Amino acid sequence: AKAPVNVTVTGAAGQIGYALLFRVASGQLLGPDTPVKLRLLEIPQAVKAAEGTAMELDDCAFPLLAGIDIFDDPKQAFAGANVALLVGARPRTKGMERGDLLEANGGIFKPQGEAINAGAADDIRVLVVGNPANTNALIAQANAPDVPAERFTAMTRLDHNRALSQLAHKLGVSVTEIKKMTIWGNHSATQYPDLYHAEVNGTVAADAVGDDAWLRDEFIPTVAKRGAAIIEARGASSAASAANAAIDHVFDWVNGTPEGDWTSAAVVSDGSYGVPEGLISSFPVVSRNGRYEIVQGLDLNEFSRQRIDASVAELAEERDAVRQLGLI
Ligand code: NAI
Repeated sequence: AKAPVNVTVTGAAGQIGYALLFRVASGQLLGPDTPVKLRLLEIPQAVKAAEGTAMELDDCAFPLLAGIDIFDDPKQAFAGANVALLVGARPRTKGMERGDLLEANGGIFKPQGEAINAGAADDIRVLVVGNPANTNALIAQANAPDVPAERFTAMTRLDHNRALSQLAHKLGVSVTEIKKMTIWGNHSATQYPDLYHAEVNGTVAADAVGDDAWLRDEFIPTVAKRGAAIIEARGASSAASAANAAIDHVFDWVNGTPEGDWTSAAVVSDGSYGVPEGLISSFPVVSRNGRYEIVQGLDLNEFSRQRIDASVAELAEERDAVRQLGLI
C-alpha cells in the first residue's frame, strides 16, 4: 500500500473546512489509492470545534483516513505536509479598509509561509483559498524562500466552475461539452472569465453565444459577483462549492488535466501575457507531471487585453501594499 500523504488544512473548523474534510478523507482530493493523514490547524478558540469535526471524521470509518491531528501552532501543523490547503483567513469586517485587511491576513499568511518553509515536505503543494487569496498566497510564498515558488497557488477554480455552469445554462448544453474555459487575474470582482478561448463542441464560445452584450453585461458580472449572490440567497458564503473547487484544483494538480482541455488556477507569473513576473495571477493552465504550467501562445483581443490588464493592475496594487507593510 502507498504511504499516507500528509494534508494540512487551516480553518478546519470553518464552513468550508466542514464541507472539505470529509471529501479529502474519502479519497477525492488525491484519488482512490492514496491514504491521507489530516493535520488540522485552527486558532485556539476553535480547536474544540475542530475536535468535534475530527470525531465525525472518525465516525465515517473512511478506509483511506490514516490519522487526524489537530494543532493551534502553524510550525507543528505544517511539519511534514505534502499538501496544504490554506482556508482560514481574516474576513473583511464592516468599515475595514483594504490595507487593514491585507495587514490582518499578513499576520496569518506570513507565519504560515515561514512554517511551510521550515518544516513542510520537499514535495509540498500549497493551495490558498482564504481571501484575498492571490495576495495571501503571495505573502506565504514570499516567506518560504526555500520552496519553489511554483508550489504556491491560489484558487480561481470556483470562478472557473461557475463560468462553466453559466455558459452551459445559456446554451442549453452540458458542462462536458465545454472546454478551455479561462479565468484570468485576481479572484475578485475584477476577474476576467474569457469566452474567446473557451470552446463549445469545438466552436469558440463567444461565437456559439453570438451575443456580445450578454457576454459583457451579464455573463462576466454574474460570474464575478456570484459569491455575493450566494450570500444574499443562502445567508452564508459559498462553502460546499468552494470546497468542491479546492478538491478539483488539487486533484488536477496531482493527477493531470485531460488532453485537449485546460483549467484555471492562480499561479506565479513568469511574465506570460504581460503579467508582471512574481504576481500570483489566474491563467489558463494544464497540469503535466504534477506541475501546473501556463498555456502559452493564446491571442488576446482588445477587450480581453483590457480586462486582464485591469485585474492584474489590482494585483500589483495589492502586492505594493503588502510590500509597504513589510509582509513580503
Ligand atoms: P469561516 O469563517 O467559516 O471559517 C474560517 C475558519 O478559519 C474559522 O474556523 C477560523 O477560526 C479559522 N482561522 C482564522 N484564522 C486562522 C489561523 N490563523 N489559522 C488557522 N485557522 C484560522 O470561513 P469560510 O466560509 O470557511 O471561508 C474561509 C475563507 O475562504 C474566507 O477567507 C473566504 O473569503 C474564502 N473563500 C474563498 C473562495 C475562493 O474562491 N477563493 C470561495 C469562498 C470562500
